[in-house]
Amino acid sequence: MKIGITYDLKDDYLALGYDKETCAEFDSIETINAIDSFLKGQGYQTERVGNIQALTKQLAAGKTWDLVFNIAEGLYGRGREAQVPALLDAYRIPYVFSDPLVLAFTLDKALTKRVVRDAGVPTAEFEVWPMASGQWSEKIPFPLFVKPIAEGTGKGITTKSLVQNEKELRLTAEDIHRRFGQAALDETFLPGREFTVGITGTGENAEVIAVMEIVLQNNADACGYTYENKLQYEDRVTYKLVEDKEAQKAGDVALAAWKILGCRDGGRVDIRSDAQNNPQFLEVNPLAGLHPVLGDLVILSKLADIDYATLLKRIMISALSDISRFPHPQQSVSTSYA
Ligand SMILES: Nc1ncnc2c1ncn2[C@@H]1O[C@H](COP(=O)(O)OP(=O)(O)O)[C@@H](O)[C@H]1O
Ligand SMILES: [Mg+2]
Repeated sequence: MKIGITYDLKDDYLALGYDKETCAEFDSIETINAIDSFLKGQGYQTERVGNIQALTKQLAAGKTWDLVFNIAEGLYGRGREAQVPALLDAYRIPYVFSDPLVLAFTLDKALTKRVVRDAGVPTAEFEVWPMASGQWSEKIPFPLFVKPIAEGTGKGITTKSLVQNEKELRLTAEDIHRRFGQAALDETFLPGREFTVGITGTGENAEVIAVMEIVLQNNADACGYTYENKLQYEDRVTYKLVEDKEAQKAGDVALAAWKILGCRDGGRVDIRSDAQNNPQFLEVNPLAGLHPVLGDLVILSKLADIDYATLLKRIMISALSDISRFPHPQQSVSTSYA
């Protein structure tokens, strides 16, 4: 079986002059090496395809793969995470992780919250602070937490995200508009414990690997898991697996969200508890970082005695066992109309 690997390599974009924050979600060569050597170790033939431009050229040249291991985050547009899988769908090439629909709408935190809320999954009250206008609706009481509507890796999450009044809300929202060119999302500030939940599998076969609590040290930004806290996690953050009642509830909330959103194969759901210690859905990461040392999903798995290879094996089993992803033999006609 020939497996292509699609990814956005951080060093490539830094070399092109993009700044560190823009490249924060992209992968390092260690991640690509680790995935590649895992797949080779499983007896697969692998090919490093690269980003969407490289993929486009190779597809146009007639190349194909039996499966693509896709961790490309994309650079431009709200649908950036969906671009590679959409292209693969067009060429009927199966891939690991979620499909374009899921990857597009889960990047938008407000749309995602609407879907999980509709299914009865608890999530904090919120409103969208659009680019053009900016009128606080007065529906949700302060304190609020303000963040970019469609970023990840803590981008745009600072000590100014926690706001106590309309003036602070306006300043932070406008800063987000300026820096990220997108709407801001404000939601009820959740003062409780924070968890990230690792999940592998798809649909009814999805299961929680473990629930990890993110404990901020005294020298950390106190309001949450900010961009700076994430960067300096070694000094500022302690991670521990937890199994108490509240943690189990966090796991249940995360798994329910994962299923209702249609996420596939493996990833993470971020949860934070409200003032009454009730875990609330924050966001889902259907393309969770897979750095062999630094990825939160990898850290969490290791704490649960699941090593890197076992984690990736579970992800691969999920992808390979989903026959709906593979073209039906009777439908396997040429994708070339030239
Ligand atoms: N409503 C909220 N109340 C309190 N903290 C929050 C809230 N929303 C986000 N945070 C904090 O900000 C961090 C990043 O938010 P999140 O939505 O997970 O975005 P990202 O995609 O950047 O990880 C969370 O891990 C949490 O610490
Ligand atoms: Mg998060």
